[in-house]
Amino acid sequence: FKTLDDLDCKGKKVLLRGDLNVPMHDGRITDTTRLDRLVPTIKELVKKGAKVILCSHFARPKGKVVPEMSLKPVGEALSNILKQPVAFADNCVGPDAQKAVTSMKDGDILLLENTRFHAGEEKNDPTLSRELASLADVYVDDAFSASHRAHASTEGVTKFLPSFAGRLMEAELNALNAALEHPDRPVGAIIGGSKISTKLDLLSNMINKVDVLIIGGAMANTFLAAQGVKTGKSLQEADMHETARDIMEKAKEQNCKILLPVDVVVAAELKNNPATQTVDVHAVPDNQMILDVGPKTVKLLNKYLAELKTLVWNGPLGAFEFTPFDKATNEVAQEAAKLTKAGKLKSIAGGGDTVSALKHAGVINEMSYVSTAGGAFLEWLEGKALPGIVALTTLAQETMPL
Ligand code: 3PG
Repeated sequence: FKTLDDLDCKGKKVLLRGDLNVPMHDGRITDTTRLDRLVPTIKELVKKGAKVILCSHFARPKGKVVPEMSLKPVGEALSNILKQPVAFADNCVGPDAQKAVTSMKDGDILLLENTRFHAGEEKNDPTLSRELASLADVYVDDAFSASHRAHASTEGVTKFLPSFAGRLMEAELNALNAALEHPDRPVGAIIGGSKISTKLDLLSNMINKVDVLIIGGAMANTFLAAQGVKTGKSLQEADMHETARDIMEKAKEQNCKILLPVDVVVAAELKNNPATQTVDVHAVPDNQMILDVGPKTVKLLNKYLAELKTLVWNGPLGAFEFTPFDKATNEVAQEAAKLTKAGKLKSIAGGGDTVSALKHAGVINEMSYVSTAGGAFLEWLEGKALPGIVALTTLAQETMPL
């Protein structure tokens, strides 16, 4: 795909697709990471004298205008971060958008209203893609975290404009390729989460790619139960035992070592600071549930981590939102950070929960790379082709007349 290095954008109108889908609570942005990570592309385009027409989806308004889901406050936050005015158009297409674009000067930034206020966005309606494209001369996609959606502003628009990857998109793809396509070996993955059923494709792909697969979270309970281990009241999927055994069998054929907990922290209920016990994985009492992996497991995982050159992390090891079930995730994350800092490990993390867990462990800035993506990171780990990326690499070469 082409990058900003291939784009002479002086005086050009650039339609920039970002992912401004930031977490918001009571009208306030609670985490600006996605905005911060978009800044280098915006600044580069501004510096080169482009007219930057920024567009994005926000939340899930389902094709209707929902005032609480307006991008306007996000534009204000972005303007504060950039220390530059960001104009706003009340519609991403039509007369409002056209008029706002007409009044732009080189180096100006305009934010268009939520693309999902139009039903055509999620339907990938070519009418909407064409209308968006008609506002600009070129398209820059910097929304890796929305690239698993084949929508009008991510995939459709590339059919109508010469298309380029922004700096964040480039960084995400480079990091992900370095992690699984051409990794320094041995490569390991920590995959947590509650259900095998939601991560089945991911696990199946991982056993083909990594040398060591560490399974954590409630998902590990299902693997344990599938081997006849009594898991008490723990969350687990009884209908996935055969699948779990199948994954373990296939992993063996692929020479992928699966690591499961050897000891666990249990409690009678999931809440902050309940009475806990640390027990061998074969001694979980009937009335208790597994809520974290134990110290022996942490020691074992850290021993394996020391052997790895590359680590992909998705999903916490325990119920880290509740104390003390964040302990194992914190300790393993801190070990991964230490090895990364020492230049011994390349650590790549992504997915909503993972980012919160690593922030909680205080090491979010110490990983080699933290993806801004949630769902797109998962689909990439599943080995799926992401429509936004496919469009950038193939369709972008031939554009249709507007
Ligand atoms: C995300 O937050 O993962 C992306 O912005 C995509 O959002 P969506 O799941 O609503 O499509």
